[in-house]
Parts: sequence; structure tokens; C-alpha cells
Amino acid sequence: MTDAQAIDALGWERRTFPPSEAFKQNALVSDTSMYDDGAADYEGFWARQAADLLTWSKDWTTTCDWKLPAAQWFVGGELNVSYNCLDRHVLAGRGDKVAFHFEGEPGDTRTITYADLLDETQRFANVLKSLGIVKGDRVNIYMPMIPEAAIAMLACARIGAAHSVVFGGFSALSLTDRINDAEAKLLITADGGWRRGEVFPLKQTADEALLHTPTITDVVVVRRGGNEVSMQDGRDHWYHELMATADPVCPAEPMDSEQLLFLLYTSGTTGRPKGIMHTSGGYLTQVAFTHKYVFDLHPETDVFWCTADVGWITGHSYIVYGPLANGATQVMYEGVPNFPGNDRMWQIIEKYGVTIFYTAPTAIRTFMKWGAQEPAKHDLSSVRLLGSVGEPINPEAWMWYQEHIGGGRCPVVDTWWQTETGAIMISPLPGATTTKPGSATFALPGIGTELVDENGEHVEHGGGYLTLTQPWPAMLRGIWGDPERYHETYWTRFPGRYFAGDGAKLDDDGYLWLLGRVDDVMNVSGHRISTTEVESALVSHPAVAEAAVVGANDPTTGQAIIAYVTLRGGAEVDEQVLRNHVGTEIGSIAKPKAIYFTPDLPKTRSGKIMRRLLRDVAEGRNLGDTTTLADASVVSELQRRASEVPPED
Ligand code: PRX
Repeated sequence: MTDAQAIDALGWERRTFPPSEAFKQNALVSDTSMYDDGAADYEGFWARQAADLLTWSKDWTTTCDWKLPAAQWFVGGELNVSYNCLDRHVLAGRGDKVAFHFEGEPGDTRTITYADLLDETQRFANVLKSLGIVKGDRVNIYMPMIPEAAIAMLACARIGAAHSVVFGGFSALSLTDRINDAEAKLLITADGGWRRGEVFPLKQTADEALLHTPTITDVVVVRRGGNEVSMQDGRDHWYHELMATADPVCPAEPMDSEQLLFLLYTSGTTGRPKGIMHTSGGYLTQVAFTHKYVFDLHPETDVFWCTADVGWITGHSYIVYGPLANGATQVMYEGVPNFPGNDRMWQIIEKYGVTIFYTAPTAIRTFMKWGAQEPAKHDLSSVRLLGSVGEPINPEAWMWYQEHIGGGRCPVVDTWWQTETGAIMISPLPGATTTKPGSATFALPGIGTELVDENGEHVEHGGGYLTLTQPWPAMLRGIWGDPERYHETYWTRFPGRYFAGDGAKLDDDGYLWLLGRVDDVMNVSGHRISTTEVESALVSHPAVAEAAVVGANDPTTGQAIIAYVTLRGGAEVDEQVLRNHVGTEIGSIAKPKAIYFTPDLPKTRSGKIMRRLLRDVAEGRNLGDTTTLADASVVSELQRRASEVPPED
């Protein structure tokens, strides 16, 4: 937790930004009555949203059935998620409306209307059926950022198979683990995708993963990179070949509101990644609601661009399900923000007339480094609203974003939520909330938050633990295959409430300021990585005896992974070799920024590694009391090394 910084920020961050009159005039919400509605009766509030925003085949009988820790929403109700995202827009005469302006990294483009998307989704749903996929099965998706990723997800939803998307940057081992945990029958992947001017191979990595996945019977491969791949007879099929002969009609079958929609794996404090479960009716209600009101969506005129990858929850909720449920027009971009030049994002905004832009603080800080002259090369006057997600946004980055991307005229919504919450929980409503740079402001209508101290007592002012006090429609329904762990992880630290793992502060005006994780989960560029997982990866190298990993503050990525490693007697290994080893075990995003070799790790006399102290060393802070250490000399040696080796790549 970065207490010191946040306290500083509170000390001087006094700027406030009320919504402009011009923005308010056309805003969907411009007063606070919605908060009163949500507070008066949150179940009734969400029931009204579910009825207003979605099309149901059968009404529900109970809005929320809540037996801690199990929630069910819209019990007895039936709907089809893909029908809500596609058919109903086409049936209403909006088939020609653009769903995606797709921009490939090499500059190729595709315009995909709602009618196109429905057609492809129906065909692909029939492909899934022809490969033996039925309601209740799990399907793994390992794809670049191309429209087929969304089509694959929607086709699964159409027939009631749950998808489990694994981010394309994860390693073969990570993919294997996730496939096996979900016992998926089918893998959908691509030959490769474009990244920084080159094709990165996906099929090749998938092939490695597939050596150890007994449940997978078939693999569908989209041609994107054009790179050479080997296709295994009987198991592997080209997407375009299957689609060419697929039946174009696949009616959307009504599903139970609590039908499993997807699993998404995320890091926890201990052990293996958790398969977070999300279901249909409640999830779609809240993603549609938040996408509409947090982004003040006017679907006829807005062009929405969320820069996340579909492999993360942000991509699920704010590229696929929320925007499509609302009939929005979006930009989907495949590649990196600096190819071919540092102005690629701004060029895309200008090209498509993007009106709402949603990105992560780590990206904003990178844009700041590249300089304001990059956005200045382009006409960004179409932009009317900016969003931020994934990590605390520091006031400087917020101000830069507001000024250089928003031209000083756009509200900035800092949105706090998690894989587990499924949808945005804390955020301004841009036409109603006066924002403060760096604050996510208040819980949304219908959401209950409370800051508590160590003992679970209410905190009125100052720092505390962020808890959620009542069920919400898009909440996770559990951890796949491990109900015990679900209860234990989220509902026991503060009995009766969900603990999100984040610290926060309340200022004099009741604004929430998120402070980051209080547990052993790092947040690197907005991605959650557990210290335990990186440690296990390091220790799995034959030269390593012991490893301790901490997240240290980093000006660009929020936190950086710093590892302290003790080698086995006589063993020698290069830092780069170990970094690559972690890359192979987990994926490039988990490679430590710096690895310090040390003959010993600082431990308490009971043998616990003192991570706080290692964080202090990594961040160059003065160390406080080290008298509980078994061997204090270990630390002075580490400090000496840390000051010698600059933690840079
Ligand atoms: O620590 C919080 C941080 O990201 C965590 C959730 O990560 P993940 O499940 O990967 O989902 C990221 C995208 C929703 C949270 O526990 N976080 C997310 N948004 C914010 C944030 N921290 C501060 N401010 C935010 N706006």
C-alpha cells in the first residue's frame, strides 16, 4: 500500500472539477436522484435496470437470493446474452450500425456491423455445436485482439457454453493450467497476431500447452498472422474452412439467469490462479448499466474505445458485453500504442472520431513520457469523455489526461472495480459528480461500500480497508471448483461483507481515494500478479533455492516486480536467464524488473520472510526497526546491492 504518497496527495490535491454546463445539458444523469433510488432499495433499483436495459424471455420471480456467500440474481428469469448483444439490435432495424471499427496493427481495417456480427456469431455457434460443444461445456479462447475473439465469446454465450479467455501474452504453461482447471473441451486460437510490427506466434505456444491437456478434443485456428503453423490431423481445424460450410442460422436459446457465462482466471495471494465465475442475467445487467451511465453513452452518436485486451475483465465487460448490449459503436485495435509511431492512439481517435476513450493509468503515464506533442499532432476534438481503470491514477496523470487528451473540456471518470466485481463499482457519474484528480469519488447507485479498520469498525475519515456491504448483480458467483476457497478468500476477513483486498481513504468531503492492494498481490500496469506465483516460478529453476518477490513503486507501471533470490550451493545463473524462466512459466508480464542475488533472505526468528522490509529496500526507504530479524546483516548487504544495481532493464 502506498500510504505515504496518498497522504501527500491529499495534502495538496484540492482541485475540483464540476461537470460543465455544456456536458450536463445532454447528460443521461445530471442530478443525484439515482443515488437516492439505489439507496432506498438496492434490489428494486437493480430490478428496474434489468427490466429497462435487457430483453428477457421469461421474467424472474426473485430479484436477489442472498445466502452469504452465495448470491443469485433474477432467479427464475431467462435470457440469452448473445440475443441481447446482437439479435435485438438487428430486429429493431439497427443491423447496419457499426459494431466494430477494427484496426489491425499493420493498418488493415474491417468495418463490422451488428448484422455482420450476428451472422458470424450464428455460424460460429453452429461450428461449436458441430464439434460437440453443448450447454455447460467450457471452451478456452487464446487469441489476439481481433473481432473473432468477440465472435467466439458470443457464440459460446449463444449456446450456453462457458468461455475461459486466456490473455495471449500468457505462456504455454499458464494456458495448460487454465485449460486443465476448467476441463475445457475446445481451444480457439489463431496462428499469430501482430505486435510491434511483428507476428507473435500463438498456435505454436498453444501446441506446447496442448501436450498436457487431456480434455481438449478440438482446436479451431483463426488465420491472422499468416505465419506458418502445424495442424494436427483430426484435432486442428481452420476457422475459415469451418465457417465456409457452417449453417447460418442458430436461434438463440433462452438460458437461466444464473447460467455460467464465463470463467476468467485471476491471481490471488496464494497458490494457483482462481477461476472467477460469472453468470448471465446479473452480470449483463450491471455491465450494461455501468457502460451506459458511467460513460454517458449516446449510442446513436458515440464512438467508444476501450483499449484493454479481451483477455482481461475490462475487455470482457467493456468491449464485448456492456457496449454490445447497449448497441454501441466501438473501435477495436489489435496492437501496441507506439507502432509505427508514438501517436498511433491519437491517430486512431482522429480517424474514427472516437468520443469516449477508456484506458489505464500505466498507459497514460507512458503517453506523458512520450510527450504532449504526440496528441497535439491530431484533432482530438471528437473526444467528450475520458475513463481510467486498473490502478490508482495519480493526480499528475489525471491532469495531463484531462488537459492533453480531453482538451480541458472532458470529464474524467476514474473507475474502480475488479475481475471479481465483474463491473464498475466506484466511479463518478460524469454529468452529476464533481471530480477530484486521483479520486474514484463515490460508490455507484445500488452499490454498498464501507471503509473499515483492522477490527471491521466503521471508518468515517482517513485510511482503511475497502469492503462491499451488500450483493451486487455482477458479483462473482464463486471460484471454479473451489467453493471453500471462495468463502475463505472474500468473505471471512470481515464477517458479513466482501473484502476486496484494497486499501482506501476517505477525505473531508467523503470522496474515496484508492490506495492499492493491501495483500501480496502486485499491480503491474494494471494487471494483477501474485508474489507467490512469481516466487514459485523462480524456485522451479534448478539453480534457485529460495526467492522472495515484492512489488515496488514504479513511476510508469505503478508497481514493478522486484525479486530477491538465493541460489543453491555452488549454483550460478544469469539474471536474464531467470527472468526468461519466469516468462516461460507465467508469461512476459510477470518477468521481474530486477533480480537481486543474496546469500540469505531477511526473516523473522519464526522464519517468515519480511516482505515489508524488502519493499522498503526496493523503494530505497530508510529501514525502521529491524530488531525482529534473525540476522540483521542480511539487510545491510541487500541495501548495498540495491543501491549498486539500478533496477532498470
Ligand atoms: O487494486 C485494485 C486495482 O485493480 C484491482 C483489480 O484488478 P483486476 O481484477 O485485474 O481488474 C482490473 C480491471 C478492473 C483492484 O483490486 N484497481 C482497479 N481499478 C482501480 C484500481 N485501483 C485504483 N483505482 C482504480 N480505478
